[in-house]
Amino acid sequence: MSRFISTALCALFVCSICSTEASAAKGKPAPAPAYNAAAGKATFDASCTSCHKTGLMGAPKLGDKVDWAPRIKQGVEVLVSHADKGFTGKKGTMPAKGGNAKLTTAEIGNAVAYLVKSAK
Ligand code: HEC
Repeated sequence: MSRFISTALCALFVCSICSTEASAAKGKPAPAPAYNAAAGKATFDASCTSCHKTGLMGAPKLGDKVDWAPRIKQGVEVLVSHADKGFTGKKGTMPAKGGNAKLTTAEIGNAVAYLVKSAK
């Protein structure tokens, strides 16, 4: 019985952390968002890896410094906007949000930070 209670308390605790994080994420967007590459890995693995891991359809590969250098020069905000709204370049088409419409701009920004970090 006590094990059940502690499991339940533990679940409650974890849930309260989740909801605090969720409400923090829903807050007003910061004027100069600081993207988090570590947090972006999960988004990348779920929504971007299919093209950006192998270079499918002309996507700049994760960690490909040569392909990323001129893109990084545009600045992170341009990259995030291209990834968020979609972008057609010389190599192909980057679909808006990588085709996952549920992603927020902040999540896209984190995934972009992860890509940029991999190529520095
Ligand atoms: C269906 C394939 C595909 C998926 C999925 C995809 N991308 Fe791309 N992405 C591309 C292609 C192709 C390009 C290159 C377009 C070009 O430069 O011609 C690109 C380019 C980019 C660029 C560079 C834009 C620029 O200005 O040079 C960023 C940043 C980017 N993708 C981020 C992401 C993120 C973040 C995700 C996941 C949320 C994602 N992509 C998912 C295909 C994809």
